Amino acid sequence: MSAQFSRAIVRTPGQSYAQGLTSSEQLGTPDLPRTLEQHAQYCRALRECGLELTTLPADERFPDGTFVEDTAVIAERVAVVTRPGAASRAGEVNAIAAALSVLRPRIERLEAPATLDGGDICQAGEHFFIGISARTNAEGARQLAAILKAHGYTASTIDIRTHRTLLHLKTGMAWLGERRCVVVPGFPRPPELASYEFIEVAAAESYAANCVLVNDQVLVAAGFPAMSTRLRSLGFALRTLEVSEFRKMDGGLSCLSLRL
Ligand code: GLY
Repeated sequence: MSAQFSRAIVRTPGQSYAQGLTSSEQLGTPDLPRTLEQHAQYCRALRECGLELTTLPADERFPDGTFVEDTAVIAERVAVVTRPGAASRAGEVNAIAAALSVLRPRIERLEAPATLDGGDICQAGEHFFIGISARTNAEGARQLAAILKAHGYTASTIDIRTHRTLLHLKTGMAWLGERRCVVVPGFPRPPELASYEFIEVAAAESYAANCVLVNDQVLVAAGFPAMSTRLRSLGFALRTLEVSEFRKMDGGLSCLSLRL
C-alpha cells in the first residue's frame, strides 16, 4: 500500500510570515523572497508528482497559515477540520474549510475542548497514528479516532511529549508505504508499530525525518546527504527540496500541503 494523491491545498506565505511561532530562533529570521521561492519550488514539485493545486492567498492575520497541514486531516473516505492547538492559529481553519467544502461533500469537525494539529497525524494506509503533543490533546485524539472509526479506519496514539525536540508527530516520523517508516533516534515504539521496518535518520539529520511520500516519489529536505543516500539505496525516487526558510519557523515538507 502506498500514498496516492491527485490534489493538494497550499497557501502562499504572507508578509507576516516571520512573525509566526518558532522555537528555532537560532537559525535566524526567514528571508521572505527566499521563502516565496522555496514555496514556489515546493508547489512545482507537487505538480510534477501529478497533483493539481488549490492555492489559497496569504492572510496576514495568520503568519503560520502556510503550514496548512495542521488545519485538516484528509483521508479518502473522510475530511476533518481540526482545532489547532496554538491560539494564534485557530482562525486558519476557516479558509481551509471553505476550500475543502468544494472538494468534499461532507466535512467533519472537532469540538471543544479538543485541540489537534494535522502535523500530529500520520496516516499509514488504513491506520492513523495520532501524536499526543503540546498541540494535540487526548480529547482531540479521542474525537478524531471516533470519526475515523466511523469511516472504517483504525487509529492509535503515540505520546511524543517526552521527546523534547518534536513539535509534531511528523517532525519525527514519516510513513513511506507498506510497513516502512522513517523515524528520528529515540522515537517511541508503541505495540502498533511492532511490525514496521524503521529507517532511522542520524541524529545530526533529524530534520530530514519530515519527508513525504507523494505517489511514487518522496519529497526530502535538501542538505541531509546520509538520509538521501539511504532512501535511494532502498529504491525510493527522491525529489530534494530547499526548505531552509520553513525550518526557521519549525515547519517542514509535510506541513506545507494538505494532500488528497
Ligand atoms: N510555526 C509553525 C507552528 O509552530 O505551528
